[in-house]
Amino acid sequence: MTMLVGDCRTVMPDQGPFDMIFGDPPYGDTSLGWDRRVEGWLELARNALAQSGSVWVFGSLRSFLGAADEIRLAGLRYAQEIVWEKQNGSAFHADRFKRVHELAVQFYRSDAPWSGIYNVVQTTSDATARTVRRKAGPPHTGHIERGHYVSQDGGPRLMRSVIYARNCHGRAIHPTEKPVGLIEILLRTSCPPNGLVGDWFAGSGAVGEAARATGRRYVGCEIDAAMAARAEARIAATLPFTSASPAPDPLPGAAS
Ligand SMILES: C[S@@+](CC[C@H](N)C(=O)[O-])C[C@H]1O[C@@H](n2cnc3c(N)ncnc32)[C@H](O)[C@@H]1O
Repeated sequence: MTMLVGDCRTVMPDQGPFDMIFGDPPYGDTSLGWDRRVEGWLELARNALAQSGSVWVFGSLRSFLGAADEIRLAGLRYAQEIVWEKQNGSAFHADRFKRVHELAVQFYRSDAPWSGIYNVVQTTSDATARTVRRKAGPPHTGHIERGHYVSQDGGPRLMRSVIYARNCHGRAIHPTEKPVGLIEILLRTSCPPNGLVGDWFAGSGAVGEAARATGRRYVGCEIDAAMAARAEARIAATLPFTSASPAPDPLPGAAS
């Protein structure tokens, strides 16, 4: 577990190859002084990926639209996205919806086939058996038979892409801190056990805590030295993964 201080564009490329990269940069959506887009990191991250690696980038749709050219020129291909739904959010504009979600989008190297990318399908066991009765009488179209069928016989089923996780409001050490439970899902999906995670915009070190708890190796980078020190202390205080570690908590989003 290593926390580096500096600009990720300078510090991180030499630390790879990474099995998985987390990129949670400032989104550049507001006029706040710290919320400035970081140019050029995507290509460096892509080049620091292992051949089977992928990068998960947090952002808003607006930030991804603004970065579309950069993503393509960096040699990255879209894989999928999840929506993180949180219990509270931000009302940037009084005349628009209150925003209670953020996106995380997965990209992989455009010179690598998706079939070669490390990917563990996440499932939940919350499917419930459901009996559906067919209407009697002549069907409107086709040949629907009378009677009933059972639509599901219980889990597992594919995890849903909209994942509810409470944000760290009230106990966060960073203003845009991401929930560890959410990060753990992405880690289990895209980084092999004992694989190397690169956290290019580490902030509070939430990714480091998740990596330590799930048995992944971690290199984080944060430009703010004081925040990096707090993140480092937080990660050091996390119980490391062992074969005797308790099973993970029920996944956020498991209940529908
Ligand atoms: C959105 S926050 C990350 C929050 C983090 N994922 C968490 O859960 O706590 C972005 C962080 O990137 C840092 N940062 C901004 N530009 C950077 C750069 N060029 N290199 C490294 N860190 C940078 C900021 O100081 C800020 O802490």
